[in-house]
Amino acid sequence: MNRSDLVRKFEKQARLYEKKRKKQAQKKWRQKLIRSAKGKVLEVAVGAGANFPFYGPDVKITAVDFSPEMLKKAKEAAQEYGIEAEFIQADIENLSFASDSFDTVVSTLSLCGYQDPIQILNQFNRWCKKDGRILLMEHGISSNFVLASLQKALDPLAYRLVGCHQNRDIMHIIQSSKIVIEKTESYWTDMVHLIWEKPGK
Ligand SMILES: C[S@@+](CC[C@H](N)C(=O)[O-])C[C@H]1O[C@@H](n2cnc3c(N)ncnc32)[C@H](O)[C@@H]1O
Repeated sequence: MNRSDLVRKFEKQARLYEKKRKKQAQKKWRQKLIRSAKGKVLEVAVGAGANFPFYGPDVKITAVDFSPEMLKKAKEAAQEYGIEAEFIQADIENLSFASDSFDTVVSTLSLCGYQDPIQILNQFNRWCKKDGRILLMEHGISSNFVLASLQKALDPLAYRLVGCHQNRDIMHIIQSSKIVIEKTESYWTDMVHLIWEKPGK
């Protein structure tokens, strides 16, 4: 799928993501992960701001997404939750920050979409201060054979419909990057992972 089609796909989903934020979908997981965020935070693929209800009061967020509609919803959420944030409309796959720019890098439900997720994780590794944290909540392939087979079969359709791959081996992707895993929690036969990490070399 070319870039503008992909952006358009997410533009059309902005209201749905706003609804999910209002319902606080995945609250238990987001709350658990996001409370570890500190200081200067980079949130990539921020969507409609689903994590904003769960940040502590002292964070300053740089939020990135390539969809203007998603960013519009995220700005409304920042106002609603009193979040100090700046917003950048950009493609994360072409984005650059100086090394050691952030205390925390947050990505939730975004590794399913990138062309080269390992390269993106290596960028997180570079952008995050050495004593900082990288916080991920990602979905991928199940450890259950039947579910995994279904995910593989449905992947081309799912990608065409919503722009996300369903069949990625998230833990393998992370282990192939420079990031060092500190703690993981996995749910729903390993389809969802919460991962606390620190930068490696
Ligand atoms: C599945 S949604 C997740 C949104 C949010 N992080 C959450 O947890 O609800 C993926 C988001 O990533 C954005 N996105 C996907 N690929 C991107 C890219 N290469 N650069 C910037 N944003 C991207 C989409 O516009 C969308 O808002």
